[in-house]
Amino acid sequence: MVKVLFVCLGNICRSPTAEAVFTRLVKETGLEERVLIDSAGTGDWHVGHPPDVRATRAAAERGYDLTALRARQVGREDFAKFDYVLAMDDENLRELKRLAPPEHAHKLRLFTEFSSKGAGAVPDPYAGGPQDFELVLDLVEESARGLLRDVLSRIDA
Ligand code: 4NP
Repeated sequence: MVKVLFVCLGNICRSPTAEAVFTRLVKETGLEERVLIDSAGTGDWHVGHPPDVRATRAAAERGYDLTALRARQVGREDFAKFDYVLAMDDENLRELKRLAPPEHAHKLRLFTEFSSKGAGAVPDPYAGGPQDFELVLDLVEESARGLLRDVLSRIDA
């Protein structure tokens, strides 16, 4: 089993979007039995809340259902459990580096590293407008395709 954790700040916009997008891609590839996918936030303000209605609506337009997801905060045990711990931006990555035990630090990456378009981050859309949520989906879909290639190479190895 390859285990992937997506991490943003609140776990109500970007990382639930990434969880839903990557889950669908993995299902379409027939790998749902071999890949475990989850998301979490570095902050605790939204723990237990469903995703932001704007993120839910934008994702639904592209056929992704976020409604069953609930926010949780990343914990120390996540670094041992997951093979990939993927931050949406540099601030999330800095926080993860601060929290991660050194033996698991190699699992921490920026999600957009997997994008062939070379985007630097998935920008925080929380204070933005509808176009910011569309950008999140564009960047997440692009990065998810690259991540799938990386996961496949690990499964084949
Ligand atoms: P996310 O977006 O990190 O993509 O879930 C945010 C959600 C909430 C807040 C900031 C960003 N907040 O400040 O409450």
